[in-house]
Amino acid sequence: MAMQSRALTIEDGKEPSALPKTIQSRVFPVRILQFFGLFLILGLGFSIISMFMIRYWGVQNVVSTARSEFQPCLEEPGSLVRWIRPQSNLMHTMTDKELFWRASLVPQINEYPFTRVPKIAFMFLTRGPLPLSPLWERFLEGHEGFYSIYVHSLPSYEAKFPSTSIFYRRQIPSQVSEWGKMSMCDAERRLLANALLDISNERFVLVSESCIPLFNFSIVYHQLLRSKYSFVGAFDDPGPYGRGRYNENMAPEVIITQWRKGSQWFEINRKLAIHVVGDTIFYPKFEEFCKPACYVDEHYFPTMLTIQAPHHLANRSLTWVDWSRGGAHPATFGKADITEDFLKRILEGQNCLYNDQPSSVCFLFARKFAPSALEPLLQQAPKFFGY
Ligand SMILES: *[C@@H]1O[C@H](CO)[C@@H](O)[C@H](O)[C@H]1NC(C)=O
Ligand SMILES: *[C@@H]1O[C@H](CO)[C@@H](O)[C@H](O)[C@H]1NC(C)=O
Repeated sequence: MAMQSRALTIEDGKEPSALPKTIQSRVFPVRILQFFGLFLILGLGFSIISMFMIRYWGVQNVVSTARSEFQPCLEEPGSLVRWIRPQSNLMHTMTDKELFWRASLVPQINEYPFTRVPKIAFMFLTRGPLPLSPLWERFLEGHEGFYSIYVHSLPSYEAKFPSTSIFYRRQIPSQVSEWGKMSMCDAERRLLANALLDISNERFVLVSESCIPLFNFSIVYHQLLRSKYSFVGAFDDPGPYGRGRYNENMAPEVIITQWRKGSQWFEINRKLAIHVVGDTIFYPKFEEFCKPACYVDEHYFPTMLTIQAPHHLANRSLTWVDWSRGGAHPATFGKADITEDFLKRILEGQNCLYNDQPSSVCFLFARKFAPSALEPLLQQAPKFFGY
């Protein structure tokens, strides 16, 4: 009320001074009013016309025409691309529980409504550096869009790859993992879960810092994508290091005839990867009842997958390794070992079943190679491995 009465008094005060002005000065504000009125009518007219146009042509058309004319590089906001595009930054703050839940989501419609180029996810389980990375860089060169890389290393290790490297920013949130313990399986599940977040990843290969590829990328890609089976070493070893490690408390989820052993270096397809990440039945049993001298990373995946998807397993590993020297660890090969005879020995005389047919291409990868082997391997790779 006070404001209103004050405003009135001011206007009242001005009124007398406006009275003596001439007719000319009164015409001026009228012209301005007419001018604005014209604009108002024009504006309204335009609005009405464009409203009808949008109704007629459809919002989509008008918007996409504008986009294609002015922003040809931008995708449509809210399009499917936004939902299927993999994260460019692999770092996240999800806990394992959150991550595994997210990674276990599966589409219920089998046909993809977009062109999906299946990719191979190479998952590097390492302690720290990747001394053989130049070999992998050469192997993968020119095949962008057909593979992706994930690296799990000790959390204390800080990777320093240049921005041009294929390993640049491919590190996933990691935790300490110890050989033979459940934390090792956790790391492998973490790699799988992170790789599952990219809908294009179809085959998942676990490799270590001492692994090398034995064939060029085209061969590896087609061998994996055309395979009916996933390559998990899984065998029934009746001895003390096989069935001898089984604990009866695992029944009824795991019975002794289902108990399997195999190399930790697996290759599995998307379907099995989701089994592994989504497992809440077998995990607690292995966690509680398979502790050293039961080395859980040799038993958990082979046994669990044998129970859940036996007919999807090739029951052999893709990674060549040499146990002939005996002992608890396989042989490591350094600079002096990389001779032509040695490479022939790995590549020749391979015999296995591939899609139920005899094949001479069995191992696609090999381990274990010391950092000193890098230089001779790079030299021999074009001749022996075709890359
Ligand atoms: C890969 O190796 C195979 C057999 O050695 C060869 O036929 C093919 O051309 C190679 N592919 C590329 C891309 O080098
Ligand atoms: C792998 O072993 C399982 C049983 O453990 C069997 O059912 C399956 O057929 C085997 N896979 C192949 C390719 O022979």
